[in-house]
Amino acid sequence: MQNKKVVLVTGGCGFIGANFVRLVTGSGYDWRVINLDKLTYAGNLGNLDGLNEGENYRFVKGDICDAELLETLFTEEKINTVVHFAAESHVDRSITGPADFIQTNIVGTFTLLEAARKNWQQDGSFPQGGCFLHVSTDEVYGSLGETGFFTEETPFDPRSPYSASKASSDHLASAYFHTYGMPVRITNCSNNYGPYQFPEKLIPLVFNNAVKGKALPVYGDGKNIRDWLFVQDHCEAIAEVLEKGENGQCYNIGGNNEKQNIEVVTIICDLLDKKLGPLENGEPRRSLITYVTDRLGHDRRYAIDATRISSQLGWEPRVTFEEGIAKTVDWYLDNQQWVENIVNGDYKLYYEKMYKA
Ligand code: NAD
Ligand code: DAU
Repeated sequence: MQNKKVVLVTGGCGFIGANFVRLVTGSGYDWRVINLDKLTYAGNLGNLDGLNEGENYRFVKGDICDAELLETLFTEEKINTVVHFAAESHVDRSITGPADFIQTNIVGTFTLLEAARKNWQQDGSFPQGGCFLHVSTDEVYGSLGETGFFTEETPFDPRSPYSASKASSDHLASAYFHTYGMPVRITNCSNNYGPYQFPEKLIPLVFNNAVKGKALPVYGDGKNIRDWLFVQDHCEAIAEVLEKGENGQCYNIGGNNEKQNIEVVTIICDLLDKKLGPLENGEPRRSLITYVTDRLGHDRRYAIDATRISSQLGWEPRVTFEEGIAKTVDWYLDNQQWVENIVNGDYKLYYEKMYKA
């Protein structure tokens, strides 16, 4: 296998994928990156504005379920590495419409694994150096009580159609390592936040509504806990797993930043009050907080034990939540046109139906 990494990144126009593509097409990397993205509602070419196609980067619009297209790409580009982000990623949408999650997350991952196996396997074995990195979530482990952490040994217990589809794809990826000896690695990460996150997710949704003086919908009692990780830290962790990880291993990735949802919402409100002043009626933005009907099957708490990636690969998150959320709020303030393009597009219908707004 040739030395230069020729990396198929799937879903590179989504939130984490775009941050990853920006990282690995930048200085310090001499990779060729092929970004395959279907451009669903969540995919946005604008997330990669300023990145031009050339020797180190190519964009292909297409579906990971399209075996013929994958075959062409693997042979044409001599792909030796896959970083698989493409997925339906929003839990609420998986509750109202699970079919796309089954198709992309399960059938799509299977189709991609098969394409890699067919192209890489020679006389029953795999040449050294290649790797299929499957990007997954901590949600496969289920929901925690007040104590404890998810380790790589925690049994899977997915509880939403989204997490069940991701768990299924994790099992498929793992099966390709155990059955065929394919060089597969899996990462299971906690909640990401940062630039380019689609505004259906909690942090950008709250930002956008708080700027506009609209209600801030908090599900249930607002005390559900997520472990927040700045997206650039996640992307660096993935690059580390590619460079130094071991085939057949899973790596948990987390931020050591457990926060109740209500804490996250109030932090954003207070940052915006400081930067923009209070609402027109003189009230602080916290006054917009509105408790709404809970998400069905809402997982109570996620928390990651990231000892393996820290002790074996030396990766640690670099950005604290306080720094990361301030950077994120600044990025969204500086990129309000990016938000407007999305919230005034097809997403508007989804938002109005979901929040009865
Ligand atoms: P996202 O929804 O922002 O982006 C998904 C991207 O995949 C979009 O660009 C979309 O167009 C593309 N896509 C969807 N279906 C496709 C298909 N059939 N073929 C080709 N492209 C397709 O998602 P994200 O938040 O960036 O998440 C990326 C990955 O990371 C997902 O696999 C997700 O499960 C995982 N993950 C996300 C988080 C998080 O907090 N966002 C945390 C842990 C793991
Ligand atoms: O843990 C990793 C997962 O994090 C990823 O696998 C998913 O792809 C990603 O979407 C994210 O899932 P969550 O469901 O945790 O993220 P979301 O931003 O949708 O919600 C975060 C928390 O905020 C959750 O407890 C639900 C709550 N919430 C969300 C929205 C959209 C609200 O209270 N109000 C809202 O309007």
